[in-house]
Amino acid sequence: MTQLSTNQDFIDLENRVAAHNYSPLPVVVEHAEGIWVTDVEGRRYLDALSGYSALNFGHRHPALVQAAKDQLDRSTLTSRAFHNDQLGPFCAALSELVGKDMILPMNTGAEAVETALKIARKWGYLVKGVEADMAEIIVMDGNFHGRTTTIISFSDDPEARDHYGPYTQGFVSVPYGDLAAVEAAIHDNTVAVLVEPIQGEQGVKIPKEGFLPGLRELCTDRNVLMVADEIQAGLGRVGTTLACQYEGVEADVYTLGKALGGGIVPVSAVAADADVMGVITPGTHGSTFGGNPLAAAVGKAVCDLLASGGHQENARAWRASSARPWRPSSGRASRRCGCAACGPASTSTPGCCPARRPARRSRSRACWPRTRTARRSGWPRR
Ligand SMILES: Cc1ncc(COP(=O)(O)O)c(C=O)c1O
Repeated sequence: MTQLSTNQDFIDLENRVAAHNYSPLPVVVEHAEGIWVTDVEGRRYLDALSGYSALNFGHRHPALVQAAKDQLDRSTLTSRAFHNDQLGPFCAALSELVGKDMILPMNTGAEAVETALKIARKWGYLVKGVEADMAEIIVMDGNFHGRTTTIISFSDDPEARDHYGPYTQGFVSVPYGDLAAVEAAIHDNTVAVLVEPIQGEQGVKIPKEGFLPGLRELCTDRNVLMVADEIQAGLGRVGTTLACQYEGVEADVYTLGKALGGGIVPVSAVAADADVMGVITPGTHGSTFGGNPLAAAVGKAVCDLLASGGHQENARAWRASSARPWRPSSGRASRRCGCAACGPASTSTPGCCPARRPARRSRSRACWPRTRTARRSGWPRR
């Protein structure tokens, strides 16, 4: 193979041999530390993308790297056919952090969402008493929960959905933040409402103040599980450990991912109390890598960082010093998300968090460097 040295050399190679499912910016990162990345030609960039929220603690946080290194020297994969000495401590730490009895570890965010959907359906049949194969789950317009066939079945983004049918049944979508629409959509077979506390796919959408508490009340009244997808908004980003907590809400089920792996390994999880998680029994769900000791060791170190409250405090401080503080009141898409990563980025750039791909119409207002190439290649998609 010819010697690769410039950004273009690596891009040309990648374009030849890697599938074109992304359209990245023309920067080939070789080294990363904290909020900085350096490309193969020695150019340094402030990374405001934050790994689509997987780098809430920055690149290569020393405590997380140390936890990974220590575990690499001990064991990395046991499969769940054996126990390992990292899984219990990780689940205990995460359970304590998010206030739920039990944790089901997976790897990617989409797997955590799939797992939560399966748990909700099974809870519907075994606990709520829904007729076989009739369970329905309410989702929100403009959602983003990942890329699996079931998840894109209830996406309204044609780019994510088109040509992947036939689609999975059993979902009904209502306008995001519209409590009356949720109420109207609930019927006897409804088992869950799946909601992102803040949406991030079509611009950053913060629901109107009172939506999450109202949804909580509605779900309790109608015996429906409130499933909060905290994969992007959670784990310290908005100044509370979970984004739902910003409005003092406790969901029945949380999906977590991204920053749970500290940007080092893919770690995701579903958290729920025993009356819900109890529907999962041996052989009914699993993953070869889910709960592996390396992931568990890093996940536990992430929980320890968050347990100190410092990162949440940091996000709150950025929000307080921001020109347009984040608060759950507008109900409209905003270009400023107020997250921990967005704080410093917003002070040095005119727009907001480049981690989000804005609605296509508002692309020209983006804060990503306005080079011709950047415009042509579009925004980095999740
Ligand atoms: C809210 C939300 N849920 C789920 C996912 C899917 O996570 P993953 O890409 O790890 O599968 C994402 C990814 O962007 C997300 O933002």
